Amino acid sequence: MSQDANGSTTTAAPGSDGAGNGDALENLLHENRKFAPTPEFAANAVVGAEVYAEANADRPAFWARQARELLDWDTDFTEALDWSDPPFAKWFVGGRVNAAYNALDRHVENGLGDRVAIHFEGEPGDTRSYTYAQLTDEVKKAANAFESLGVAKGDRVAVYLPMIPEAVITMLACARIGAVHSVVFGGFSADALRSRIDDAEAKLVVTADGTYRRGKPSPLKPAVDQALSKEGHSVRNVVVVKRNGEPVDWHEGRDQWWEDTVGAASGEHTAVGHDAEHPLFILYTSGTTGKPKGILHTTGGYLTQTAYTHKAVFDLHPETDVFWCTADVGWVTGHSYVAYAPLVNGATQVMYEGTPDSPHQGRWWEIVEKYKVSILYTAPTAIRTFMKWGREIPAKYDLSSIRVLGSVGEPINPEAWMWYRDVIGSNAGKNGEKKEHPAPIVDTWWQTETGAQMIAPLPGVTATKPGSAQVPLPGIAIDVVDEAGESVPDGHGGYLVVREPWPAMLRGIWGDPERFKDTYWSRFEGMYFAGDGAKKDEDGDVWLLGRVDDVMNVSGHRLSTTEIESALVSHPWVAEAAVVGASDETTGQAVVAFVILRGDAVNSGDATVLELRNHVGKEIGPIAKPKHILVVPELPKTRSGKIMRRLLKDVAEGREVGDATTLSDPTIMAQIAESLKK
Ligand code: WT7
Repeated sequence: MSQDANGSTTTAAPGSDGAGNGDALENLLHENRKFAPTPEFAANAVVGAEVYAEANADRPAFWARQARELLDWDTDFTEALDWSDPPFAKWFVGGRVNAAYNALDRHVENGLGDRVAIHFEGEPGDTRSYTYAQLTDEVKKAANAFESLGVAKGDRVAVYLPMIPEAVITMLACARIGAVHSVVFGGFSADALRSRIDDAEAKLVVTADGTYRRGKPSPLKPAVDQALSKEGHSVRNVVVVKRNGEPVDWHEGRDQWWEDTVGAASGEHTAVGHDAEHPLFILYTSGTTGKPKGILHTTGGYLTQTAYTHKAVFDLHPETDVFWCTADVGWVTGHSYVAYAPLVNGATQVMYEGTPDSPHQGRWWEIVEKYKVSILYTAPTAIRTFMKWGREIPAKYDLSSIRVLGSVGEPINPEAWMWYRDVIGSNAGKNGEKKEHPAPIVDTWWQTETGAQMIAPLPGVTATKPGSAQVPLPGIAIDVVDEAGESVPDGHGGYLVVREPWPAMLRGIWGDPERFKDTYWSRFEGMYFAGDGAKKDEDGDVWLLGRVDDVMNVSGHRLSTTEIESALVSHPWVAEAAVVGASDETTGQAVVAFVILRGDAVNSGDATVLELRNHVGKEIGPIAKPKHILVVPELPKTRSGKIMRRLLKDVAEGREVGDATTLSDPTIMAQIAESLKK
């Protein structure tokens, strides 16, 4: 694969938005526009084309240099990479480093204490800004408070918080004392929270009374109470941030208000270095089976690659840039590019609690204008939502501060890419002024498992192509291979793999080393299998084509078909269920479920569907609720009993049903069609 910097100067900018509608793959195959960086951007870029050659010459040495430049080590490492026991990697062997010290104290020591670390914007409009000195102080207090509650190095802490600064403070306080955080997204249910608490045997839960959603208080603490209502858990204390002031149940002895515990704690706390391979966090993600996997990340390699990519891919100039990653800390993007990298790099960032349409559909652009955001990192699903709302909304705001735009979480279709460029990246003022040179867009491919960005253009180097993440980052060995694991030639498609270990790679699945090997390292000998389909174009650039397994991607959130199927069949009315991800204009994919009801269940139409949707919401969380549930008499199965999801996808997407000749009963698709007419 070409790791060539691709710094060609071809710029073919058609006037219109995108390459038309229709099949996504068709679009991609006809997409051949390129936008080269301006000479001015290239001249001021933090990273130039030479990094590819340097990294290719010696990957571990390249990463060792980044580790030493980007981080302050308590004890220097003796070896960049130990790969003697694959797939278990050790990076920066013997090194000792403290993540919180690197994100906080050292900036204060270096005279940057007055720089704003976080501009927080609450949904109701309340704001708070933390300088590096203030944030350091808060994290030291939280570290002392957690220690006083008996949390020690290696203990696990579950974090169930909204997008408020206390989420970042909690994560960094854990990192400081060597406790392992496990953040559970606030959109997950009490049951999902409990299973994650149990799997990691968390000692402490940090939560809030609640948050705000579209102008209304939205509770969180009740889910924690419910999760802990059944005996037999490992939790000793629950620390509760007061956010929306709604009344909450209180468990004396177990529950502590943040303002009391952290508020009263001392602001003196010395950070000590932890081993480079000390666990930093666990983050659960959906796989192809019913049980979410606890993805384990460790300290030195993770910090190195997140900090490096944040600097190189966003062309970060920390003295002047204002960075805004819109992801929730409940997802890996919020870990790597909210809680860690921006702070390790000493940047100023914006954190926003609410939804983009609260109290109006211009809220994000109002925030960009207010804080002069210069680097915006968001997901295609958000961009498509803004497209639907109309370009006149962002046009009302001055977005001229924006100089780099990032995309993450799912393939970005060329239409959305062009809209992002034309409407957000070209805005030079609220009176419709246009920039002569729109902000470059970096589409970044990575995963919870990879910990940090893996494939992305470098904005001062790469001529970008709408819809493609294009180039493996320096020091990252990406390939596209065929069924047999052979590298495909340019112009061909196959499976995305990583050929060499990388610093931020997952170190395993919490408590299940065998599953780690099976899931990622058994499909192709000696390679990490990502689960994504991809193609190399004629230039050798990589285009991501979506998952090739039973994982769905809804609004950039990963959901497992199997997990939702098991939630459905756990309802007494459901005999069998099959779930597919059907393409959806806004959310990328939407969850569509086909269910067979039990003989004694009464199909009461809409009421049945509502009951089952709510059941999935209770079992997993509102984000997993199927958009459509179709009650059918049978499911299409092969003679060996495997559900043919492909055919159900045809139905869900309203297409002519494909080849059904391998079905055990070829009339089933007709029966399903008939039942759906009713
Ligand atoms: C899956 C990982 C990366 C943080 C957020 C999601 C898809 C992610 C892209 C992209 C095409 C993408 C892949 C991947 N994905 N970024 N730029 N282009 N697809 O993390 O929840 O672990 O999901 O998201 O399918 O495997 P995640």
